[in-house]
Amino acid sequence: MVETMRQTPSCPHDAVDAMPPDRTTSRSAVPFLRWAGGKRWAVDMLSALVPERFNRYYEPFLGGGAFYFHITPYPATLSDTNEELINVYRQVRDNVDELIDRLKKHRISHQVFTAIRNKQPSLPVTRAVRFLYLNRTAFNGIHRVNRQGRFNVPFGCKPGTILCDEKVLRHASASLQNRTLHVSDFESAIEAAGEGDVVYADPPYTVKHNNNGFRRYNEVLFAWADQERLARACRRAVKRGVHVIVSNAYHEPIIDLYHGFGIAKVYRESRISAGLQGRGRVAECVLRSISTE
Ligand SMILES: C[S@@+](CC[C@H](N)C(=O)[O-])C[C@H]1O[C@@H](n2cnc3c(N)ncnc32)[C@H](O)[C@@H]1O
Repeated sequence: MVETMRQTPSCPHDAVDAMPPDRTTSRSAVPFLRWAGGKRWAVDMLSALVPERFNRYYEPFLGGGAFYFHITPYPATLSDTNEELINVYRQVRDNVDELIDRLKKHRISHQVFTAIRNKQPSLPVTRAVRFLYLNRTAFNGIHRVNRQGRFNVPFGCKPGTILCDEKVLRHASASLQNRTLHVSDFESAIEAAGEGDVVYADPPYTVKHNNNGFRRYNEVLFAWADQERLARACRRAVKRGVHVIVSNAYHEPIIDLYHGFGIAKVYRESRISAGLQGRGRVAECVLRSISTE
C-alpha cells in the first residue's frame, strides 16, 4: 500500500524533543560535505518517522549524514564503506583544531587542486584535509575514484566557495563526540542492531534493469544483488524488533522487496531531470517497518 507522505510536522525535532536532554549534543549541526544523494531535502519528513524513544541509532550508509546531523541522536553507530569518508568524520570528531588550521593554509585554485588531487598522503589528518579540499572544489562535489582507487573528478569550483567553514566543522565535531564510526559494509552494521534500536538506511539507488548500479560513490558497484541483500538484512532486523527506515528509488521491483513495509512516495526537486527547462520532480520512496504491537 502506498500512502501519501505526512506533512512536515510543526516541530521537526519532535523525536528529539521527546528524548532525555543528554541524548543530543548539538542542534546547530549541519552536514559539512557535499554528497551525491544527500538527504537534506528530506530531513523534516524523515524525522516524523523516527519513534519518540529508541535505544541506539544506526546509519549504515552515512555519506554526508544529512539526517544524522538533523537529529544528532545518542548513542549512535555511523558507518560507510568509504574509508576516506570515515577517516574525515574521525578527524572532525577527534582532531578538529588541527584539521581547521591545516585547511585554512590552502587557497582555492586549479593548480592547488591538481597538486592535492595527485597526492596520496598517509597521515590521517592530511588525508582528511585532501578529502575536504576536493569535496569543496571538485565538479559538483562528486567523489569518484577510478579502478585504481584514484580520485578522478575535474576541478569545478564555483566563485565564492568557502573552503573551511570553521563554525560548521566545530558544530559537526561537537555532535560527533562519543559516536561510533566504522568502515563497514551495511550488512554487518545492520546485523548489530537489536530490539528498540533504529536503523536509517539510504543506499545508492540502483534500478533492476541497470545491473551495473550507480558508479557515483566509489569504485565498488552497488548492484541489484546488494539491494536484495539490504532488504533481507532489513527484514531480519525488523524480526529482532529494530525500527527500520529506508530511502530508495520509487521503482516497482524495489517496492516488491519491502513487501509488508509502509511505503510513502516523496518527490525531490531536480534540476538534472528537468534539463534546460528549469526544475523537475523525481519520485523517491521511504519505506518503514510497521510495528505489530
Ligand atoms: C546515497 S549515499 C548516502 C547519503 C546520505 N544519506 C546523505 O545524506 O548524504 C550512499 C552511501 O552509501 C555508501 N555505500 C555504498 N555501498 C555501500 C555498502 N555496501 N555498505 C555501506 N555503505 C555503502 C556510499 O559510500 C555512500 O556514501
